[in-house]
Amino acid sequence: MMTTRRSLLTPVAAMPVLLLGAPVASAQPFRLPLTPECSGRGERTIANAEGPYFRPNAPLKQDLAAEAEGGARILLGGFVLDESCRPVPNALIEIWHADDRGRYDQRGYRLRGHQFSDARGLWWFSTIIPAAYWSRTRHYHFKVQRPNDRILTTQLYFPGERRNAQDREFDPRLQMRVTTAEGQPLGRFDFVI
Ligand SMILES: [Fe+2]
Repeated sequence: MMTTRRSLLTPVAAMPVLLLGAPVASAQPFRLPLTPECSGRGERTIANAEGPYFRPNAPLKQDLAAEAEGGARILLGGFVLDESCRPVPNALIEIWHADDRGRYDQRGYRLRGHQFSDARGLWWFSTIIPAAYWSRTRHYHFKVQRPNDRILTTQLYFPGERRNAQDREFDPRLQMRVTTAEGQPLGRFDFVI
């Protein structure tokens, strides 16, 4: 299972490079790129429905792809920022989503996990692209919380999905920017809280 082990480890090591477009040296001050999600107008990320499948107490976990039974891998990531586009470190970012057949794990914590943004406000998860299900287009559920602040519950979406237009919960402001880096899809979104 050498291939599997390597494929599990590679996204973790490569993530900062893929996400930021260039290696981030720890000694070098990090320059935050201006993004459509944080235009300087102080617009917070909007809330979106929690849906019926949230389960509390999801574990600390960034590699969700490792436990998926199938599905195409994707790296999700971005920054947590305040309304002045400053990074928010130690923000809780929790994700839960359907698998590649549109199913949620309702007994365990497969494709569920949380992490905390780093000193640069960076967050990321290695996971899979979920299937659409019922009336829903493809989406990820998130909770984002600055320490000791209120919780933002929202969802992120893929641009260009045929079913986006028919999904009542879909909001174009919650679309990720999806690119490919080194053959791996990358979904970028900056949460502004
Ligand atoms: Fe959902």
